[in-house]
Amino acid sequence: MPTALIIGASRGIGHELARQYRADGWRVIATARKQPDLDELAQLGAEPVALNVTNPESIAGLGWKLDDESIDAAWLVAGLYGPRHDGFPTQDEFDAVMHTNVLAAMRLLPIVAPLVAVRRGKLGVLSSRMGSIGGRGHGNASLYRASKAALNSVLRDTALAFGPHGATCIAFHPGWVQTDMGGSAADIPVDQSVRDLRATLAKAQPDANGTFLDHDGTPIPW
Ligand SMILES: NC(=O)c1ccc[n+]([C@@H]2O[C@H](COP(=O)([O-])OP(=O)(O)OC[C@H]3O[C@@H](n4cnc5c(N)ncnc54)[C@H](OP(=O)(O)O)[C@@H]3O)[C@@H](O)[C@H]2O)c1
Repeated sequence: MPTALIIGASRGIGHELARQYRADGWRVIATARKQPDLDELAQLGAEPVALNVTNPESIAGLGWKLDDESIDAAWLVAGLYGPRHDGFPTQDEFDAVMHTNVLAAMRLLPIVAPLVAVRRGKLGVLSSRMGSIGGRGHGNASLYRASKAALNSVLRDTALAFGPHGATCIAFHPGWVQTDMGGSAADIPVDQSVRDLRATLAKAQPDANGTFLDHDGTPIPW
């Protein structure tokens, strides 16, 4: 039975990833930071692990729990949009978004990628088209955009480090998705985004290592 790891599975895209992999008969290790969400993931048949991605001890605990595991498909989903205003971010806003979207990835991916490499598996990181510099047409939500551009940089470094050992590491835009973050006016329902993300990751070959893809597999400029 293949194993999926979903980091940030309490709601939205992460929760739907956990639900769909379980429905397909996968073993699913899924993280959340609140007990009711962990209980709900257990109800789904997932193996819940408590994780706050901004807490180093919590990340160390995940590393300890994953010791000896090997993973076919890993997804780093947890993310924060941050301020909706377009003024300067406050220090607290900056720290919260960069910590959640960038520093957490720098700490988590070196733990997760080797476990993926063992299985010659795939690792998907939920970035955003808003992080693309080459494809940028708007300057709103500057802090979120900067955080996803930095996350893309972390993903490229992870791909360079662990691709040669067998992990295929990809940054994804999930579409504009109807979740708490995307809002109800978004383009696509979460189940459709996640079906596409899973299918694109599943058919990715090793030469996709270090790429930035839309949910349907279309390349996005860095
Ligand atoms: N929705 C979109 O249109 C869209 C578009 C482009 C990219 N994305 C990206 O896709 C990912 C998922 O988005 P979504 O729409 O599903 O977002 P969402 O509905 O707002 O859910 C965010 C998830 O991140 C988790 N999270 C946030 N901070 C955390 C922390 N410190 N520790 C652990 N978990 C934490 C949340 O957990 P709690 O429930 O505990 O808060 C929740 O599971 C994000 O990285 C987002 O930037 C989304």
